[in-house]
This record gives sequence, C-alpha cells and structure tokens, in this order.
Amino acid sequence: MIERYREFLPVPSATPIISLGEGNTPLIYSPRLSERVGHGCEVFVKNEGINPTGSFKDRGMTVAVSKAMERGTKALICASTGNTSASAAAYAARAGISCVVILPAGKIATGKLLQAFIYGAKIVAIDGNFDDALRVVRELGETDDFTIVNSINPDRIAGQKTAAFEIVDELGDAPDFHLLPVGNAGNITAYWAGYREYLARERSTKLPSMIGFQAAGAAPIFYDRIIDNPETVASAIRIGNPASWKQARAAIIESQGAIDVVTDEDILAAQSWLAQQEGIFVEPAGAASIAGLFKWCDSDDGAHSFQKILESSRIVCTVTGHGLKDPDMIIRRMKDLKPIAATVADVRRAIEL
Ligand code: F0G
Repeated sequence: MIERYREFLPVPSATPIISLGEGNTPLIYSPRLSERVGHGCEVFVKNEGINPTGSFKDRGMTVAVSKAMERGTKALICASTGNTSASAAAYAARAGISCVVILPAGKIATGKLLQAFIYGAKIVAIDGNFDDALRVVRELGETDDFTIVNSINPDRIAGQKTAAFEIVDELGDAPDFHLLPVGNAGNITAYWAGYREYLARERSTKLPSMIGFQAAGAAPIFYDRIIDNPETVASAIRIGNPASWKQARAAIIESQGAIDVVTDEDILAAQSWLAQQEGIFVEPAGAASIAGLFKWCDSDDGAHSFQKILESSRIVCTVTGHGLKDPDMIIRRMKDLKPIAATVADVRRAIEL
C-alpha cells in the first residue's frame, strides 16, 4: 500500500517498510442496496474486512510501524476495542519488536483477543472501558522506547486516508456520499483528509458528504456530550469520548454531511442482511454504515433522508471489520445441529427435497 501511494505519505525511500500486503480492498457494487435507495443511485461497499488482520486498521498500522522503525522504537503500545490491538500485534511481529495492548476487560470480541494473543502481544486487561484504556496509554506517553499506535498518532491517519484514494481511483471521481461507522473518529478524519488531498492534487473534481454512524448507546458526537458508560453490541465502537472528536465534527460540517445513530437491533439486522443478500460478512460495528443507509432510506425526515438526494448519486459505504472476529452473538442464534443417518434418503428428507 505504501509503495502505491508513497507520494501522499510521510514515507521517504530511507524508511524501512513494514507491510503485510494491506490495502487494495474490494469496492463492491451492490445491486440490492442500490435498488433499496432507488433514484437511480449506485451503492458500493468498500470491504475493509479484507485486510491482513481483518480490519481497516492495517492501513494506518503499516505507516505507523514503518515510521516507528525508522525512529528505532523498541515497542508499540495501544489501547483498543480489539482491532487496533490485533493489527498492532501483527505489525509488531512482522517488524520484530514487542507490542503492549491495553484492553477493557471482558469487552473484546473473541477473534480479536485471539489475534493479539497469537501474534505475541503483551495483553493487559483493565477494569474500565476503552476511554479509560486510552487515558492510561496517553499518561504513559511516548518515550524513546514506546510508540503509541492509536489514531492519535498522525501516521495512522496518514495511512488510513489511502482508502479514500483507492475509491476515487476506482470510481474515476469521489462519490457523492460516504457512509461509515464512527468510534474513536480516526477513520472519518482520515477519509476526509484523503478526499481533500485528492481534490487539491486534481485527482478528483468533487468532495463527498461524510455521513458517520454511531451506536445509539455510544454516541457522544451525536449527543454532543461525553458518554461515561457507553454500551453497544458493536464492541469495536463502544467509545464515549472519541480522541478525534473535533476533527470528525469538522469533516461533517465542511462536507455538509451528518452524524446519526443506529440501534443495536438495526446493526445486527444490517449485519445479517449484508451476509444473506450480498455475501459480505462483517462484524457488528462494520455493519453500522449499512444500518445507517437503511435508516436514511426508510426515513421521510428531510435532513436525515435519502428521499431528497439527487438522482443517480454514487454512495460508498465502508464496512470496517471481518465478521469472523466476533462470532459470539451469532453462535447464540444458531440451533444445535442434530446428526442424521448418512444416507441419501435421510439427507433428502432433511433438506425437504
Ligand atoms: N469499525 C471497527 C470494526 C473498528 O474496530 C473501529 C474502531 C471503528 C469502526 C471505528 O473507527 O475509531 O476510527 O472511528 N476500533 C478501534 C480499535 C477503536 O481499538 O480497534 P474509528
């Protein structure tokens, strides 16, 4: 990824590149979502679950870890709701340095915790939420030995903006609307930076409206106040005091976009819909953009609605993480499989053929 977009990244040729082949993720045209929106609109899904550790974090991590190596860092440190820790642990392993991850106890999706473990990170669980973990990381601070690889590290944002570049390169211009989940608000900040930079370099002719979706129980930007005890089934975005709050606000205002909320029920319904209608399996937080698209399609309310959008708009929804990371809610919904006799007759009966 760094090679492709090096001219837009703070990575001169002397920087050692730590890469796992991130980026270049599929931008999938979605006929059923397009039909649902109507008005001749085209909806595309940018599937960031198809990155080496299964989330968009890898784009930022390749740049942050490459820069950390250039500076001679011995260890990475981050707070995380799961995906940042998985990504940091993998890139640290690749770089041959150590990684410390500070996690809210009991709130990390199973797959993500397994990733941090198998990549060899030093895992510390705290009694508190993500916001507490990030506070501790900030207080520990940067030292000569440590590099913080949360999105408060500008190299993370620089790497993540390449997703916007890929979208413009593929569509031939920026889309009209860009929908994405919002947690700590680094990603919306990064996309907006990417779109503006491409416009400034005349790689595109317009900017999209940025539309962010938070989980209803963890929506500080929407409600404009810190949420002390954020709660949502989408544990990746269970954040009450986002680090890039101001930048996210700026992106929304400058782009004439919006911030809205989706309920846990909406999120899980959108997750199943996307899997069953489009064959794309994402984790709950990743489905917030799709839940948001549905909410806007089904709403008559002027400002928060696609009812009044221009005909033939192009809409991109980013889905941020792979579904296999967070199997617990789905396993609960599955019925036990009762084995039957291994005969064609029994199988035919079971599938009602
Ligand atoms: N979707 C997923 C799957 C995430 O893991 C995150 C953030 C977001 C959306 C929100 O992105 O924070 O840039 O607004 N996960 C972080 C983590 C907080 O620690 O893995 P954001």
